[in-house]
Amino acid sequence: NSHRINIAIDGPAGAGKSTVARLVAKALQYIYVDTGAMYRAVTLKALESGIATDDSEMVGRLAYDLDIALLPGAESQQVWVNGEDVSDKLRSHEINRNVSYVARIESVRNRMSELQRLMAEEKGVVMDGRDIGTHVLPNAELKVFLTATPRERASRRFLELGPDAGISLDQLEQEIAERDRLDQEREIAPLVQAADARLIDSTGLTIEQVAEEIVRWSLEKAGTISAEEK
Ligand code: CDP
Ligand code: CDP
Repeated sequence: NSHRINIAIDGPAGAGKSTVARLVAKALQYIYVDTGAMYRAVTLKALESGIATDDSEMVGRLAYDLDIALLPGAESQQVWVNGEDVSDKLRSHEINRNVSYVARIESVRNRMSELQRLMAEEKGVVMDGRDIGTHVLPNAELKVFLTATPRERASRRFLELGPDAGISLDQLEQEIAERDRLDQEREIAPLVQAADARLIDSTGLTIEQVAEEIVRWSLEKAGTISAEEK
């Protein structure tokens, strides 16, 4: 049972992907890779450089020039860009509103996917995003599509941000819905459940329940592969 597999977790914003993926990685002693953080990092650098986030040529060039490194941190993953730790800057309102425009750009997606595949080469990776099971790791041994109702996802984010964040629950729900729409309707690698992904609707489930289910599936899968190899 020492066989290591790759696990792809995709789904819309606030479904619990990163929270659950981190727990699953911890339980299996796998590496967690948050691909959304990479698109956020490109968005941050575009905004800082005064590049319009829908300028595909400029943002594409930027994406290739950046040195993006994901490091496992104590609590969450650290993101370094060109030698600077930008982890604390990635979840701003401004980035939330712009990231899906950056993520529509083909050259940006090609570059990020290339880096993500390299990270998963050795197996033993839990990767979360939008197109992991469909495009980045189409051969991942386990694919999960994690979702929850829009209201539930917005409420979770609202709780995370707290009432002082200056955004109402309704506004947040609208913003998330707009980002989901852009992610689902884009031409390249849109957000969609892979044909061979297992669906979990986490509405009304705890984080632990979702993580336990995925860990169980992973161990089953790894066990089956080990048995087949004997
Ligand atoms: O945490 P949250 O679900 O709000 O977002 P995220 O996972 O950090 O992803 C931010 C944005 O990056 C998404 O809305 C997508 O536009 C883009 N993204 C993507 O296109 N492909 C991925 N594999 C991951 C993220
Ligand atoms: O990565 P993604 O955007 O899919 O979601 P997240 O950043 O993990 O955020 C989900 C939020 O909902 C976190 O605050 C979790 O504590 C909470 N939550 C969850 O992830 N899963 C549940 N079953 C219930 C709550």
